[in-house]
Amino acid sequence: MIAGAAARVAAGPTERDAGGSYAEFCANCHGPQLEGGKGPRLVGGQLKHGGDEASLVRSIRDGYREAGMPGFARAMSPAETLALATFIRETSTRRVDPEPVNDRPLPLGVQQSEEHAYRIEEVAGDLDVPWSIAFLPDGRLLVTERAGRLRVIEHGQLRPEMIGGLPPVVVKDEAGLMSVVADPDFAHHGWIYLSFSDPGPDDTAMTKIIRARLQGWQLVDPQPIFSIPPEKYQKGYVLFGCRLVFDGDYLFFSVGVRGLEEGVSNDAQNLALPNGKIHRVFHDGKIPPDNPFVHQPDAFPSIWARGVRNPQGLARDPRDGTLWETEHGPRGGDELNHIERGKNYGWPLITYGMNYDGTPVSDQTAAPGLEQPVVDWTPSIAASEIEFYTGDKFPRWRNQLFAGSLATQKLLRLVIDRGRVTHTEEIFKGLGRVRDIKTGPDGLIYIALESIGKPGKIVRLVPADQGGAR
Ligand code: HEC
Repeated sequence: MIAGAAARVAAGPTERDAGGSYAEFCANCHGPQLEGGKGPRLVGGQLKHGGDEASLVRSIRDGYREAGMPGFARAMSPAETLALATFIRETSTRRVDPEPVNDRPLPLGVQQSEEHAYRIEEVAGDLDVPWSIAFLPDGRLLVTERAGRLRVIEHGQLRPEMIGGLPPVVVKDEAGLMSVVADPDFAHHGWIYLSFSDPGPDDTAMTKIIRARLQGWQLVDPQPIFSIPPEKYQKGYVLFGCRLVFDGDYLFFSVGVRGLEEGVSNDAQNLALPNGKIHRVFHDGKIPPDNPFVHQPDAFPSIWARGVRNPQGLARDPRDGTLWETEHGPRGGDELNHIERGKNYGWPLITYGMNYDGTPVSDQTAAPGLEQPVVDWTPSIAASEIEFYTGDKFPRWRNQLFAGSLATQKLLRLVIDRGRVTHTEEIFKGLGRVRDIKTGPDGLIYIALESIGKPGKIVRLVPADQGGAR
């Protein structure tokens, strides 16, 4: 039996959407915009009975009869109640912290934050959805453009030449060229690793990872690191993952659940499939004999952990080697997870999110045997890459986790202490969709920003007191 099988995945067409439930049952007392009426306002401030998911569910289910609030346990299923709580959290947060509709130009001059004053410098512009960046030992910076190009920034200049020898990549919706990382021993044998959306038959696609040696402007000796037979590819150009991170002899990578955004599958729970999993292999793609499911018949042997949805952030804590992951939930329920060997992170059996149309995904947010996220971002921030800062230019940021967001265009700083987030700061918001974050060999923080309807760019954070290029 799968741990947590008691949770029910609710995908039935009979389930009401949360906006509809609100209009039907709540709007006449709490106002059409949640602004209040006969009942108190549900947006724009602290709620007396609590604004977290569990408190909202309790308020809705049990009501406060003596104060004039009926309970809705009979009118709504547990899954619908959960989706309604998600809807209230989404609406109330968006009211005070709206998503940027566009991105602002980079601010000039010194920016203040809690621990460090800094400036933002543009390193390179004119990039088409810069998805991932990786430094080489000689200081060159590799950049993937989602459209299927691998670029080089050298001495602060984006080189016009393109690196040749890339695999064919399907470019559509979220599909394209994704991560690039250089082997820790790149100086010795020149391997770089790429993850991308591989085109399959009949409009299908799947995450694939290769490595190849970079010689001059050419990739040579390509070797597969992760792939599945094309007849197992699925339709849909979303939910690919895919980040790569080295840890000693191992390479960890994240694979999205694939399929269509609105069609919730159980593939992330199925150990026979690589979808919706965190994987661990040796640098050459071979399977470590101590992976958790290698002795289980039919299990995909590279699986390290399961039950993730669309993991677009992966990082190793330099202090203790623990692995951290961020993923896109559906509507609500983006997560930061502390990934441990063999564990199950619950998608889609438990989630704080709901379907895009407001119908529930599950009737539970927690269940025995399924891990809770360390952070639940509801409403979704569209969580992208995470990076532990390891440089020396911002000493009070050392070993803290920087997290990027696409939809809210935020760079977040998270202080992690013994597996918990003890403090969060929003460093900036609204400068573009934060795709990637890396500590440079110069100790500065490099960030790939995707702009809406304009070319994207690479920027870096420079201490305010450090003489910069401008
Ligand atoms: C007949 C009017 C009425 C309806 C219908 C109603 N409520 Fe309420 N609601 C109230 C009142 C009055 C309170 C204040 C209870 C109190 O002060 O303890 C309240 C309290 C609440 C609270 C707690 C607020 C806080 O500050 O902690 C929540 C959450 C809530 N309602 C949500 C809902 C939702 C969701 C619906 C629809 C499913 C709903 N209510 C339908 C009248 C209503």
